[in-house]
Amino acid sequence: MTKRVGIFISGGGSNMRALVQDMTRDHGGCPALVLSNNAGSSGIAWARGQGIATEVVDHRPFGPDRTAFERALDAALAPHGLDIICLAGFMRVLTAGFVAPWQGRMLNIHPSLLPKYKGLHTHARALAAGDTEHGCTVHLVTPALDDGPVLGQAKVPVIEGDTPETLAARVLVQEHALYPAALRRFVDGNMTPFTL
Ligand code: GAR
Repeated sequence: MTKRVGIFISGGGSNMRALVQDMTRDHGGCPALVLSNNAGSSGIAWARGQGIATEVVDHRPFGPDRTAFERALDAALAPHGLDIICLAGFMRVLTAGFVAPWQGRMLNIHPSLLPKYKGLHTHARALAAGDTEHGCTVHLVTPALDDGPVLGQAKVPVIEGDTPETLAARVLVQEHALYPAALRRFVDGNMTPFTL
């Protein structure tokens, strides 16, 4: 049975596009939903144009009430019968209450070589630390932020004169290869960590 994949985004969704494009070719998964917490996400417009079901759940009316936001997320997801969720630049922290039912079926991409640099500003932190290499990680989501078993990683060199922006752009190119490769392996039941 083809696995129904939901992809959560907050912005442009370039990783979502890479996942969707990969799922057009001989794949055990299909893009069943693109969901954003931001109605202005250009990724949402793109997904609609591809004929993919979309949902927007704006977090702002819920203020600090994460549980109420997540109840709204659950309600938006319910009709789509998802098997797998891929967080792809979804910039909201999800609580244990939301994550628990999806544990083992929810993936995330993070722009660092985890366990280094959980959280935000990963590229600036790698530069400030004087790292000579940096990269990105796809991992299974657990209730702890940017934690959980690593499925795959891709490395890039840090180059003399790099800024957070130039480094982010180099990492993003690798993200677009890493996430589709990790999802393919995951859908095929292969959770052995790999490096691109
Ligand atoms: C990506 O670099 C992704 O790794 C990062 O946000 C960007 C989204 O870009 N995610 C996080 O920082 C999550 N903590 P995209 O919308 O073009 O895919």
